[in-house]
Amino acid sequence: MHGFYLASEAAQLDCGRTLAERLRGQSGLVFLRGDLGVGKTTLVRGLLRGLGYPGAVRSPSYTLIEPYEIGGQQIYHLDLYRLGDAEELEYLGLRDLLDGEALLLVEWPERGAGVLPCPDLIIDLEHAPPGRQLRWLAQGDWASLLRNPPLWSGKFATSIG
Ligand SMILES: Nc1ncnc2c1ncn2[C@@H]1O[C@H](COP(=O)(O)OP(=O)(O)O)[C@@H](O)[C@H]1O
Ligand SMILES: [Mg+2]
Repeated sequence: MHGFYLASEAAQLDCGRTLAERLRGQSGLVFLRGDLGVGKTTLVRGLLRGLGYPGAVRSPSYTLIEPYEIGGQQIYHLDLYRLGDAEELEYLGLRDLLDGEALLLVEWPERGAGVLPCPDLIIDLEHAPPGRQLRWLAQGDWASLLRNPPLWSGKFATSIG
């Protein structure tokens, strides 16, 4: 995994915006892992801003899923924290979303274990006061998508390798 330190909410948003440059027009599955309050939704907010979404980005903690359409790109932001069991994902129409051309951003993907397939990108966040430590791993086609040219290197402090 690669990683770096995000010292503030502003850095967290900036990191999401940077990711947007590479994910515009992409479909795929992103896991956002880490404790409550670690900045998962903030990262998504930065990403959606980067894609050009002007409106409010609310946490889908209660709705579980929040759809966006930005410049023709379908994006779904999911927060599975309150998911009863993984079977409920069927009712959310997950199958269709996965079969389609959408970009799925999933907080608490652990709750969907057994139903969610292998992600294209895993982002792990940890509290590291005053900021957050981010680690990421891109798989399959996304490994080169995010590495060539390197996406985040030099932009944020202290690579942890
Ligand atoms: N890198 C960071 N450094 C300091 N505070 C942050 C950082 N990223 C996010 N925050 C703050 O953490 C709080 C929780 O963020 P949120 O994105 O809602 O977390 P989560 O979705 O993981 O529960 C917010 O007040 C946000 O401003
Ligand atoms: Mg959240």
